[in-house]
Amino acid sequence: MKTLRETVAEAIKNKVAVGHFNISNLEALWGIFNAAKKLGVPVIIGVSEGERDFVGVRQASALVKSIRDEYDYPIYLNADHTYSVERVKEAIDAGFDSVIVDGAKLSFEENVAMASECVKYARACGRDVLVEGELGYIGQSSKVLDAIPEGVTLDEESLTSPEVAKDFVTKTGVDMLAPAVGNFHGMLRGGVDPKLNIERIKAISEAIGIPLVLHGGSGNSAEDFQAGIDAGVGIVHINTEIRVAYRDALKKFLQENPDEVAPYKILKSAVSAVENVVEAKLKTFNKIS
Ligand code: G3H
Ligand code: ZN
Repeated sequence: MKTLRETVAEAIKNKVAVGHFNISNLEALWGIFNAAKKLGVPVIIGVSEGERDFVGVRQASALVKSIRDEYDYPIYLNADHTYSVERVKEAIDAGFDSVIVDGAKLSFEENVAMASECVKYARACGRDVLVEGELGYIGQSSKVLDAIPEGVTLDEESLTSPEVAKDFVTKTGVDMLAPAVGNFHGMLRGGVDPKLNIERIKAISEAIGIPLVLHGGSGNSAEDFQAGIDAGVGIVHINTEIRVAYRDALKKFLQENPDEVAPYKILKSAVSAVENVVEAKLKTFNKIS
């Protein structure tokens, strides 16, 4: 079985990206895995701090591991947006393949200090755990938005600078970087977010020479994803679109079947809805027609 590091390196080499999808429960995990298996591509499962609180840190790890082992399948687990060193350590100790240390809201120096401590811990843990750093604020919630999140600005000066990114990567030793390149968490109502800044992605990628991770993928176009991947993105994150598909399918089923009480029947349509969204994204990220 390839490690996540090898899988991402191979994606970068082939100019495709590994899809990263968040879960809050087992149904979403099955929907994501079914889609990946159907296409035969690797996949990363993400759990944010809130999602981890709901699923359980060790339970998320055990669930993903159980699928990886049973199907001998390249499915990986990431501790998405983690805001403290303690919680990064908790995820590493629980067996996660990668962690995101999110100091985007901190000063540059504080961000460097926190990321460096996490890198040190990951290197000493006895497994190959990838550490992703964050540079540039892109909001924090995967939800449907009426406006661009407060604190996020999309003008050129507000995006991550290639020089600062290089300094950050050199000082911390992170394995991957999530920049602000016109992306933001959540999706505008209507489902279409502003275009990504592909030139900036390219400039950052050339400056730092490590894989870029594109967050806030819900609402971005297939053309933008493919251009971003060609410019150096190795992982793309999607959450809001999955949540919307899950909620809508569940709502529809319950409206149409008000007397059904078996959860495994009620939730079947939600699994399929997640699967459909993920399949379409994975086709785009892996350039499968
Ligand atoms: O880390 C999670 C993602 O960046 C998801 O962003 O909800 O805009 O798809 P999204
Ligand atoms: Zn994110």
